[in-house]
Amino acid sequence: MIKGAKGVEAIGWAAKMIRPLADGGEGAPASQITREFHVARLNGNEVLRISALGLYWAFINGRRVGEDVLTPGWTNYDARLSYQVYDVAGLLKQGANTITIWIGDGWYRSPLMWIEERRKNIWGTRVSAIAEIRGGADLADIVVCTDEQWGSGETPVRKSQIYFGEIFDATLAPETQEGVEVVDFDPRKLIAHECDPVRELRPLDPVKQWQDSEGRTLYDFGQNTAGYVRLSLAAEGPSQVLIEHAEVLDKHGQFYNGNYRSAEAIIRLHLDERGLADYSPHFTYQGFRYARVTISGSARVRRIQSVPISSVPEATASFSSGNQLVNRFFENAIWSHRSNFIDVPTDCPQRDERLGFSGDAQVFAGTACYLADSHDFLVKYVRELMVDQAPDGAISHTSPHIVRVKPGKRMQYGSTGWGDAITVIPWRLYLQYGDKDILAEALPAMLKWIDFVWSLTKDGIVRPPATPGARGFCLGDWLQPKGPSSKPLPTIGDDAAATLYLFISLGIAVRAAELVGEPEIARRLSKLRSEVETAFRNEFVTPSGRLAYDDQTSYALALLHGLVPSDKLAAATRYFRSAIMRTGGRLGTGFIGTPALLPALVKVGEGALAGEVFLQEDVPGWLYQVRMGATTVWERWDAIQADGTIYNPQMNSFNHYAFGAVCEWLLEGVAGFRPDEHAPGFESVIFSPTVVDGLSPVAAHYDSIRGRISASWTLTGDKVRYEFVVPAGARGTLRLSPDYRDAELDGAPIMVGAHPIVGPGRHVAVFKYATPAKQLVHDSPLAANMP
Ligand code: BGC
Repeated sequence: MIKGAKGVEAIGWAAKMIRPLADGGEGAPASQITREFHVARLNGNEVLRISALGLYWAFINGRRVGEDVLTPGWTNYDARLSYQVYDVAGLLKQGANTITIWIGDGWYRSPLMWIEERRKNIWGTRVSAIAEIRGGADLADIVVCTDEQWGSGETPVRKSQIYFGEIFDATLAPETQEGVEVVDFDPRKLIAHECDPVRELRPLDPVKQWQDSEGRTLYDFGQNTAGYVRLSLAAEGPSQVLIEHAEVLDKHGQFYNGNYRSAEAIIRLHLDERGLADYSPHFTYQGFRYARVTISGSARVRRIQSVPISSVPEATASFSSGNQLVNRFFENAIWSHRSNFIDVPTDCPQRDERLGFSGDAQVFAGTACYLADSHDFLVKYVRELMVDQAPDGAISHTSPHIVRVKPGKRMQYGSTGWGDAITVIPWRLYLQYGDKDILAEALPAMLKWIDFVWSLTKDGIVRPPATPGARGFCLGDWLQPKGPSSKPLPTIGDDAAATLYLFISLGIAVRAAELVGEPEIARRLSKLRSEVETAFRNEFVTPSGRLAYDDQTSYALALLHGLVPSDKLAAATRYFRSAIMRTGGRLGTGFIGTPALLPALVKVGEGALAGEVFLQEDVPGWLYQVRMGATTVWERWDAIQADGTIYNPQMNSFNHYAFGAVCEWLLEGVAGFRPDEHAPGFESVIFSPTVVDGLSPVAAHYDSIRGRISASWTLTGDKVRYEFVVPAGARGTLRLSPDYRDAELDGAPIMVGAHPIVGPGRHVAVFKYATPAKQLVHDSPLAANMP
């Protein structure tokens, strides 16, 4: 796809949206629409601009146009539809030409979601496509465009759906027997694809292959991903090949994909003696590390690879340390980011969800912006959130919202932590990329969201209803481990979680309003924010400094966001520590608490404790899964038990990025570089490392919009050497913890409490760090009982 293609975005559409009359409806063979056309003279600037309701592959004279995957992508199709633009001069010839477009069900009408009555034909029952080739001066000439004149027929893709996979009959040739029908469609819904389209990454060869007792061949590609297999097959005669996918093997080493739930995730191929070269599915993708191939007939696999796909293929950050488990965890987060940034930020790529969950995206947005350039992708997502926003201001749990367009169905929307994606993500885009426009664009939606949450408050405290699905129901600290079942540990209440998030969103909206020149709004929201602050303190902070919900998430969020009054900080910090001691030094946090836990500990001067919690290797903890062989981030802390037993298949994804949000802390907290809200987009970089005993030597980088930022430190005895690089055109501020003594920067002593500012280039700070005595008892009887 070419972006900003030769100004074609400014030109109105001549083409009509047409549907193949050969289409048999949802689950039927993919159709093609086709047209022969004549080119009198080639200009060399010809472009194809194209989109579909469904997914498309386009061919000109039998050659595929572009290499993008799952185009036109996933949007709220009733409101917005992306189109792509391709240079096609090289595919055209003078004289007779043919254009053919295959159209599959895609997100448009594949069953999505797991609840039968909701999942069918979400956006429509009829697939269609719109396309035009333009050339000549200012692209004013129309070479060909979709209209009533096209023909249609079936393709060898006999069935293709997102969760299902694909059936492909290589013995059939595409055919054209029927015509097309022009569909009523408003071209104003067409928007140039706002982010990079999904692309293939370098294919992965199997690292291992073996046969099971039933003669099926299993391939291990060594990496869990989202994508598909590509394979070449030879055959002497009629044969059938079935490919199934799995993320893990069970404790007996057997293929296991019970966790895909109702997602069939298969590829079925029909072959004859011609075999099939370089096949990969057209309109689907799967989350997998293993493939199981069952052959009936004479077919033979000549080559098989796993082809990962992603909207964010290039990593823009790295983190390495002296701890290999940590290094692998960081890699796993990169893979989970890739696998779940597939035009929409999804929760997982394998089971019958793969949906744009707002809470997951909200907690991971900061990490995502480091791990790959996620700006355009997240802007697009924020726009989907805005389309889905309900009239009362509620933001949906998932966007594009698969239930909104189904009248009469219960909405899944309005949970704090999830809906706050509408404030948190634009704010992160401002911090990371200096994008003020998205703040201005999203501000009205932020205000509506705040109004919605405010409508659930009484005296400044949000009181979410307890019934799932009720208006404003709160998902709380989703997947928070609760300790031994004999004596569950207290967890944050929905009222505290929701009030905390209201406070966070109000803070962001105040800043956004100030920045986009809306001082009145800022003042009004600031007042509300103070009301919420006072209410929170009255309701949830006891006179002794203990929080009403005495759990890690409550302390982490309240301390990180400044909701504990200064005279109670020391006591609250002690209670926070106790909440960690009670879990034997393990985390006790879910989706919303986990990203806050370690930054909060560092903020209250407990950096060493943060390091210990992070580095402990048991459940629940980040490194346990790496010990268990994870190559992507797990949804649950306890997805596989130490003896290999796999958790209940009902909700057990091995590729969910939410808990990978700790990578933001590894970069900002440990390596210690972060954006400065007063000079966003890394015009000013704050350097503030946290020395963690057991991680030395640490090295990290991030390719910011201003250039590469890097930081590294080594701990030798009690001496730390911290080296950092400020990119050209930026400045750096070194803010060392007051616990670090005898500090020098570039050879000159730093006064206690000073925050020296430096220019671009490499700088070296040295200081002393006293390794604290170990604080935690990992083998407490309680810890032994943790899930
Ligand atoms: C998804 C989550 C999501 C949650 C909230 C789950 O099924 O996988 O990641 O945030 O539902 O409803």
